[in-house]
Amino acid sequence: MSSRIILPLDFADADEALSLVRKLDPGLCRVKVGKELFTRSGPYIVEQLIKNGFDVFLDLKFHDIPTTVARACTAAADMGVWMVNVHAMGGTRMMHAAREAIDKNSHKPLLIAVTVLTSMTDEDLEQIGVMQPAAEQVLALATLANSCGLDGVVCSAHEVQAIKNKIGNEFKLVTPGIRPGGSDKNDQSRIMTPSEAIKAGSDYLVIGRPITHAPDPLQALIAINEEVKKVIRD
Ligand code: C5P
Repeated sequence: MSSRIILPLDFADADEALSLVRKLDPGLCRVKVGKELFTRSGPYIVEQLIKNGFDVFLDLKFHDIPTTVARACTAAADMGVWMVNVHAMGGTRMMHAAREAIDKNSHKPLLIAVTVLTSMTDEDLEQIGVMQPAAEQVLALATLANSCGLDGVVCSAHEVQAIKNKIGNEFKLVTPGIRPGGSDKNDQSRIMTPSEAIKAGSDYLVIGRPITHAPDPLQALIAINEEVKKVIRD
């Protein structure tokens, strides 16, 4: 089975990102290309990563009118990415358009949604007219994404159980904020270990600095994979 680990390539340019992934093994993780790296290096970095055997999560969080998002999803699918995402706040017509665009493509990446950015507090939400607390808004938007046929959402590992209970096990949950026991929290606050997150029901764990800042990133990745495999086996 392919790895449940998604390594975010939070680097300023393609050279830095490629020099790290060359030390790794595509059997041990998938990789995430976000706005900084993509804005600097564009489709080139995605092509190179795919050429090196990696599944690529293109984390560009599309949020625009339905036609534009549909066309962006088609462009992402044509690049051969494994996963792509949109903001659930774009609404049902936008999410349906994204779903249709991917269904029409010969290559069909997983299509997931972002619900509420974890940087948003209840007060931030109120300022933009969202009166319910973040936890309720997350559940409402995850339910909406599921009703539009999306494959899952990005969420905190602490939200996994509530979402799986409401929507079901097939809905894929991608969780950042994961820290192996004993590693630095950095700027993450509500963290879980890889085994706790898998036990809670996370499907994919986004783990960056504990791997990228490790003295030996390959060893760090191997150790996390072992921890995850052990939980799945037991
Ligand atoms: O290094 P670290 O494991 O904290 O990296 C987490 C990655 O997940 C970063 O790319 C960060 O932007 C992303 N992310 C997050 N929290 C979210 C959504 C994405 O940490 N709610």
